[in-house]
Amino acid sequence: MRAAPVFVSQEELKAQQDAARQVSALPNRPGSYHIVTYGCQMNAHDSEKLAGLLSGMGMTEAPDRREADLVLFNTCCIRDNAERRALGNITWLKELKAQKPGLIIGVCGCMVQQPAMAQKILRQYRFVDLAFGTHNLHCLPSLLLSLLTQRSRVFSVTDDETLIAEGLPVKRLNAYHAYITIMYGCDNYCSYCIVPYVRGRERSRRMDDILREAEGLVKSGVKEIMLLGQNVNSYGSGSATETFPILLRKLDAIGVERIRFMTSHPKDLSDELIQAMADCPHVCHHLHLPVQSGDNEILRQMNRRYTREAYLDRVRRLRQAVPDIGLTTDFIVSFPGETQAQFERTCDLVDEVGFDAAFTFIYSPREGTRAAALPGRIEAAESTRRIETLIRHVEASTERVHQSLLGTEELVLVEGLSKRDEGMVSGKGRRNITITFPGDARDIGAILPVTITSCAANTLRGQRKER
Ligand code: 5AD
Ligand code: SF4
Repeated sequence: MRAAPVFVSQEELKAQQDAARQVSALPNRPGSYHIVTYGCQMNAHDSEKLAGLLSGMGMTEAPDRREADLVLFNTCCIRDNAERRALGNITWLKELKAQKPGLIIGVCGCMVQQPAMAQKILRQYRFVDLAFGTHNLHCLPSLLLSLLTQRSRVFSVTDDETLIAEGLPVKRLNAYHAYITIMYGCDNYCSYCIVPYVRGRERSRRMDDILREAEGLVKSGVKEIMLLGQNVNSYGSGSATETFPILLRKLDAIGVERIRFMTSHPKDLSDELIQAMADCPHVCHHLHLPVQSGDNEILRQMNRRYTREAYLDRVRRLRQAVPDIGLTTDFIVSFPGETQAQFERTCDLVDEVGFDAAFTFIYSPREGTRAAALPGRIEAAESTRRIETLIRHVEASTERVHQSLLGTEELVLVEGLSKRDEGMVSGKGRRNITITFPGDARDIGAILPVTITSCAANTLRGQRKER
């Protein structure tokens, strides 16, 4: 059963706005903030909301953590190395605080949502002033107000995991590209994954709220909207009129120039969604479809609820309907007990599908997940060998895709000047591949036709087509 979302009440949101006003009037409030973000796009977008809330309290953004009065770490806990990196950087700030006693250090996001980690930060990181989890981000004004008026540490983690807060201010990172979260949480419980424990039950926003937000973004000059969710293609309230394909069609009709979305689960990739991708001219021809493994027994133990054959069938259907679709994926190597033969099936899946690109990860045990209790841990040296082998397959696949694109035309949304080459700009084509071509600052934000002329590592080069 899908959990019914609970929308944060107007009274609560008003109370937060009141708290924000009180914070901005306090003589001891921080003048500037700096947010350090780890992890996925959901976190990047949460940071935009945090920045929106902090700006609303009269604070300006400091470009460097050393110059800020408040440093906020928005953390990720998907793998052990994400946690270690964040803890290392948080510890580094202890020194800074010794020189600058007024500095406020905050930690929020997925790491804090794990009770054991929250306890660890509370006990062992005494210099952290403020901590809150993923479910009460909207409470930042009242938490900051308590911190500044009571001058004692504020730790607030709620497990109210069905909440949705609408209408929070957002300070966007990019003028032309914007994120919209359409659903929160995940109910899939893949056996390796911590996400359902820290992001809560799956819950979807109302379609009208999403459409209104998208219309506002289009009016403000946004060209590309990325729809976000842990599992966007299971979006919906359970009613037949609020499904992901219907949402895509409605967004397509309101004049968003480009629509992207992530992440999709292969088991929820319906024919209706494939048809909507084929029919909607503004939906980009790119799909991130994490497969994780090419072996059926490993997929079963991962609780992915599809087989290699079912995945390949979805890919075939997609390519029939949208022949130039670019596919990207995620892989985990060294899941407990993975044999050499099972690993090789993952490598040959890469060769068989021909992905544009893939993120590759070594399995990282996460406390509290089912896989963490499984026997058959694979040694670090062997895991490194496996991931390096897999990366070679992925690189060869990328190279083949890029070669096949030579001479074709792409529409590129120009993001900025190329960092490496003078006189060049770069941006993404509809397939989400970075393309560099001659241009200057006046092109930023434009969508331009480009002919692909050469390829290098992960990018393509092109020549602007004269219109
Ligand atoms: N270990 C390694 N990789 C993981 N992912 C999720 N959980 C783990 C884990 N415990 C990877 C999956 C997922 C991506 C976002 O992170 O590939 O698709
Ligand atoms: Fe994690 Fe699986 Fe949910 Fe993705 S679908 S967030 S891998 S539990």
